[in-house]
Amino acid sequence: MRREKRIETVCAHLKRAKIFADVGCDHGYCSEYALKNGLCEFAIFSDISAQSLKKAETLLMPYVKAGRARGVVGDGFAGIGRETDEVLIAGMGGFEIVKILSDETHGFLPETFVFQPMHDSERLRRYLLENGGYIERDFTFRDGKFYDLIVGHRRKEGETPQSYSAAELEFGRDNIRERPQAFLEWLQKKLLDIERYIVEAGTSLKEKSRTAFEERAEKLKGVLSGEIK
Ligand SMILES: C[S@@+](CC[C@H](N)C(=O)[O-])C[C@H]1O[C@@H](n2cnc3c(N)ncnc32)[C@H](O)[C@@H]1O
Repeated sequence: MRREKRIETVCAHLKRAKIFADVGCDHGYCSEYALKNGLCEFAIFSDISAQSLKKAETLLMPYVKAGRARGVVGDGFAGIGRETDEVLIAGMGGFEIVKILSDETHGFLPETFVFQPMHDSERLRRYLLENGGYIERDFTFRDGKFYDLIVGHRRKEGETPQSYSAAELEFGRDNIRERPQAFLEWLQKKLLDIERYIVEAGTSLKEKSRTAFEERAEKLKGVLSGEIK
């Protein structure tokens, strides 16, 4: 799923790290970006699929040979030590990311993180806020498709926990507060999809489903107008 702008946008939010982990690395493009741009001293690139890891190992071989990177086949944080100071997980679902972070054996909340969930972002936001995370950036961007990006850190001592509104949890705080163009386009698309579906389904749509779709459309309109915050 290489999309240049997506990779650029995700990686532009990486901070400088001593040990960086790219979990679910597939081709290894994000690790390559971090290493090439001097964003980490050492990169661990991991994937649950041995086949995927092979692709990354081929791409990152010069860095592996130079002792600056290591590949791991494993589920989630298996093989990723807690000394890892920055973790990137891009291209997985929000539930899967939560599962990785909360895993009894290997899970932990890294000092800094960049997550690009493909869906279920609300679940991930909720988990982060309830488990010591502080979200710094939380917005939708577009590279053909729409993507959510959640960037943050483990809360430092004395740092006040964030309190998100229901809309911020569901749609992303920066989307609600700053209303970036990509988010407005996403809302318009979702709204259009629902309206089209209601018309196309016509009388075959059960009353209960119609009401649910209409309520969803109303909510999206409220967010679009800025009324729902
Ligand atoms: C859609 S790709 C995204 C690749 C890359 N992160 C990117 O953004 O371009 C998702 C990758 O995550 C891997 N994956 C899925 N579940 C995983 C898990 N629990 N632990 C590690 N890797 C996983 C898949 O094998 C796949 O290579």
